Amino acid sequence: MTAAVLIETVAPGVSQITMNRPERKNALDRASYVGLIEAFAAAEADPDIRAIVITGAGNCFTSGNDIRDFAAAAGDGARIAMDFLTTISTATKPVIAAVEGFAVGIGTTMLLHCDLAFAGDSAIFRMPFVALGLSPEGASSYLLPLVAGSKRAAALLMLAEAFGPQEALDAGLLNAVVPGGTALETALTKASALAALPPQSVALTKLLLKRSQAASVAETLATEAKHFGERLRSDEAQAAFAAFLKR
Ligand code: COA
Repeated sequence: MTAAVLIETVAPGVSQITMNRPERKNALDRASYVGLIEAFAAAEADPDIRAIVITGAGNCFTSGNDIRDFAAAAGDGARIAMDFLTTISTATKPVIAAVEGFAVGIGTTMLLHCDLAFAGDSAIFRMPFVALGLSPEGASSYLLPLVAGSKRAAALLMLAEAFGPQEALDAGLLNAVVPGGTALETALTKASALAALPPQSVALTKLLLKRSQAASVAETLATEAKHFGERLRSDEAQAAFAAFLKR
């Protein structure tokens, strides 16, 4: 069976983590989250790794949580996703996202925890939580108003509409929009630049940049997770999942 997540050292000091279920637009099922958590742990534990790039296979970032897993959620269905969000939000090494195609749900919210993010010019973002009868995750209810402003955050999270890379850039989710197909190349170039810098200084700078928000992020992740778990079992959410799976 093909691994749901690939981890490779693609350049000196650079670990590339690839979400790899292209036939499902890299929807994240339980095995994907376990693979992501293990890949981040491996990169963190390896002293030779100085930067982490996260991307998706098949010209797609990720279509978000696997809706089949959501539909089957009997209580702790979202716990493993929350474990991944804790992992990425507390990573000590720089994390750089390379987005092409769809970045839906956690595919968008995880960008709030990446230090740098680049997207191809045809990328499509969406946080469809409300449309699915769910509620925000990924500390987006805290971080998105900070980076995007409260009105824009409300529009993106409450209306749950898809948006393009320019809007993602304006909302503070990206560093740059690059020509389609070159997001990974850009991310790897930045990762190599980071890997060439003094690692302790890079790590300390990341720590200082995240320090003032760390406690609030952790508290928000936990609060959101509690509501999200309840919403998963709601009639509204289960109807939305059934409608998606019946298409
Ligand atoms: N969970 C489970 N399966 C998914 C999925 C998801 N999040 N996203 C896509 N898939 C599956 C589709 O069901 C389809 O399977 P099939 O070939 O057996 O029919 C396959 O992946 C390809 O997706 P498809 O919808 O045909 O691709 P598209 O290019 O037309 O649309 C998306 C892509 C991402 C816009 C669309 O798949 C989508 O909206 N997915 C759900 C996203 C979502 O709501 N995620 C949860 C966020 S909280």
